[in-house]
This record gives sequence, structure tokens and C-alpha cells, in this order.
Amino acid sequence: MYCDNDISRVLLTPQQIDNTVTSLANRISEDYADKNLLLVGLLKGSFVFMADLIRKLTVPCRTEFMAVSSYGSGTRSCGKVTITKDLSVNIDDCDVLVVEDILDTGITAACVTDILSKRNPASLRLCSFLDKPERRQVPITADYVGVTVPDEFVVGYGLDYDERYRNLDCLCVLKPEVYSDKA
Ligand code: PRP
Repeated sequence: MYCDNDISRVLLTPQQIDNTVTSLANRISEDYADKNLLLVGLLKGSFVFMADLIRKLTVPCRTEFMAVSSYGSGTRSCGKVTITKDLSVNIDDCDVLVVEDILDTGITAACVTDILSKRNPASLRLCSFLDKPERRQVPITADYVGVTVPDEFVVGYGLDYDERYRNLDCLCVLKPEVYSDKA
């Protein structure tokens, strides 16, 4: 790995990731047979997971992406989350599945699902590749969770630190000195 010195350990190998995504895709394909599935990926973190997930689905689907930015760190208010890229379609007849890379405090997913629910989709669910329940600040659970992870700084498979490491094909724990040096 090009960044071996920055990584303290590998949490999920590419094979474990593949198995997890396959399992999620099978469940989603079963649940969304005969539905009007619209996957909404939250940028940027979800793009790798989203790409793998849709290629394992066996039901028709459409894909959209949204981006939000949060400001005022530590806030619990959805008023502090703004949409920086919105959907390009109406969702009022869609079975929307929001796709996250990780549920951390839960604020992003809670705000996005709140926004989307007001647009009257036929149904609205949440799928997160990773779940870090120890960090939760708002009461939200995903309908589909790949893997529950401990409260450590994870990177790879779309997740970044300072925009780096998203391209790692495994999920890794970052050494604390990598991010604490720059805090
Ligand atoms: C990360 C991640 C989730 C969100 C989860 O996004 O991709 O969308 O944080 O955190 P939360 O549950 O505490 O809200 P980030 O804002 O870092 O942007 P990115 O997706 O571009 O990396």
C-alpha cells in the first residue's frame, strides 16, 4: 500500500468488503423487487460503495447523487446542513434508498432523510456501508448496515482524511499521529 506508514491496521480486506456489499445487494434486490428504486448517494464518501453496490443489484434502479456541507462543528441542528448539490429529479413516485458510506454522528443522514421525506417519496430508507454507533448524536438507524466499526479513524473505500486515502481498496484504521499532528 502506498501509505503503509500511515495505517495502523486493516479493518476490512477487499474480499471482506466484496462479501459485505454482495450481502447488502442481495437483501436490497429482494426487498425492492417490483419497486421504483432510486438510489441517492451522498457525495463524496459514498461513491465507491455506490458503484460496487449498483453492479450487484439484480433489480432495475436509477441513481442520483446529493452533496451537503455541514458547518458549526458539533452542531445537532439540521439547520446547519446545507445542500451543495441537489437531486435532478422529482422523487414523489420513487422508492428512495439513501446510500451513505458511514453513519457517524448521524447528523448528515438525519438531515438528508428529513429533507427528502418532505418531498413525498413513495418510500424512504437508508443504507450505510459502515456504522459507528458509539459516535451517534441523533437517534437514527440505517435500514441496511454493512459493518459496525469501532470508534477509530477509518479511511479507504471512499472514506478520506483531508481528501486522501479514498482510493484504498481496503478499509483501514489511520494512525492517530497522522491526524493529530495536523489538528
Ligand atoms: C462524511 C461521510 C458521511 C458523513 C457521516 O462525509 O461521508 O456522509 O461524514 O458523518 P455524520 O454521521 O457525523 O454526519 P464528509 O462530510 O466528511 O464529506 P465526504 O463524504 O465528502 O468525505
